[in-house]
Amino acid sequence: MVCLGNICRSPLAEGILKSKVNTSKVLVESAGTGGWHVGELPDSRSIDIAKKHGIDITDQRGRKFSPYDFENYDFIYVMDNSNYQDVIKLANTHEEIEKVKLILDEIFPNENVDVPDPYYGGSQGFENVFQMLDEACEKIAERLQLGN
Ligand code: 4NP
Repeated sequence: MVCLGNICRSPLAEGILKSKVNTSKVLVESAGTGGWHVGELPDSRSIDIAKKHGIDITDQRGRKFSPYDFENYDFIYVMDNSNYQDVIKLANTHEEIEKVKLILDEIFPNENVDVPDPYYGGSQGFENVFQMLDEACEKIAERLQLGN
């Protein structure tokens, strides 16, 4: 799960998907394309929204996306089109590019919809983001359960 800062959107996506899959079989992690928040806790507003929905994300720490992630993960879900561009710049092969998917394509296929960055907004923005990611992660979890 990749966003810009790895403190607002992708930590929520990581926590939500982990809550829906067997984490002994599926490795779920998140990262940011920017390195400003490496080592930090998620934004307190993401922590609060996750907690309100019964998910604890306080074990997460900010991490920067690395080109090695292309080797370690089968799917790389990005939150918006800007993240998409930043991540595919680091890809070396067509197969690596193919791993990168806009997460909201899960619910709005081929519509190029972004998860809005809630960083500069209020708590309603975080609730909206939570709901979008919850719906998208439900689809991802269903597919992973089928083994593809
Ligand atoms: P995120 O939100 O990409 O959803 O984690 C942001 C958080 C921090 C910054 C940008 C986006 N920042 O510029 O510090």
